[in-house]
Amino acid sequence: EKGNFRHFMAKEMHEQPEVVSHTLAHYLDLAAETVQLPGKLPFDIATLDRVSIAACGTAYYAGLVAKYWIERIARIPVEIDVASEFRYREAPLAPGGLMIVISQSGETADTLASLRYAKACGQHVLAVVNVPTSTIAREADVVVPTLAGPEIGVASTKAFTCQLATLAALAVLAGRERGTISTDEERRLVHALVEVPRLMNEALKLGPQIEQIARTFAKAQDVLYLGRGTSYPLALEGALKLKEISYIHAEGYAAGELKHGPIALIDEKMPVVVIAPHDPVFEKTMSNMQEVAARGGRIILLTDETGRRAAGFETEATLVLPDMDPLIAPLVYAIPVQLLAYHTAVQMGTDVDQPRNLAKSVTVE
Ligand code: F6R
Repeated sequence: EKGNFRHFMAKEMHEQPEVVSHTLAHYLDLAAETVQLPGKLPFDIATLDRVSIAACGTAYYAGLVAKYWIERIARIPVEIDVASEFRYREAPLAPGGLMIVISQSGETADTLASLRYAKACGQHVLAVVNVPTSTIAREADVVVPTLAGPEIGVASTKAFTCQLATLAALAVLAGRERGTISTDEERRLVHALVEVPRLMNEALKLGPQIEQIARTFAKAQDVLYLGRGTSYPLALEGALKLKEISYIHAEGYAAGELKHGPIALIDEKMPVVVIAPHDPVFEKTMSNMQEVAARGGRIILLTDETGRRAAGFETEATLVLPDMDPLIAPLVYAIPVQLLAYHTAVQMGTDVDQPRNLAKSVTVE
């Protein structure tokens, strides 16, 4: 039940520190300061040549973050597709490869079809799923559960951050097994992950400030979300969340793509949400932000303490999070992104938990 919350979505957003902590506890050995899966994997991560990922919607964006992590930390090439494309594009998959499917419900038709295709091509299929009794969980070779608990709101929130927590642990595990990270590096990353629930609680405190921003957001026709690196999938997720529950048109873009087209849309009416933790691509994102500012775009900057000091120009609003390891930024930045969509939808008076035309589980293609 909703408890003190007005919507399931609000309750589920606020549950994130707890369920992410629960999910991480499943994959981290805190005493040993290592990542540990509860069972043994039926394949050898150390010898994998390639990883394929397929998923839909928000789960796809979690996969896109994982691509950056797995490539950076474990040095394995990752290809990722939305499942509706993957299932039909007849990708050549060398036998013995790894396919990761990601699904909250475990029943999404296109994701299930991708799993079956990969199996037929001799892939090991690893499923990151939230419903342990689901079809995808049953048919996968290995199930790596997210422990988000039942998600009622149609817009996925806590399932997304639990997917990220699980995938981050997998990336670190792969890095260790392949010897691409040292014991010290693993320890550092485990410590970073342990910080997530506390930082999520900090992020939730931005609620009142985001509620204010949502008042002007609710008047916008279109909103642009920009980010680089792992903040790029977050930009896509922010735009998806806003359109699905507030019905405001929104687009997410890799910040560097701005000048290849979408910059033409920017005027004084257009809010642009820039997701920019102070990470190695921060300066690049700032120069894109400068281009938006020069055209009168209304910038909502999401950054950290260091980023705020370094940004050095006017925004309409700046949402400031504590400094944190870049690994965990997507998990923490997900919260203000979700809150912004939520409060905007509440302003608009839409049915937040049951947006029009949407179903929680898409079991037909
Ligand atoms: C967005 C949302 C959808 C789902 C997508 C996949 O908020 O909820 O985009 O993420 O339909 O669903 P699952 O994860 O159940 O396969």
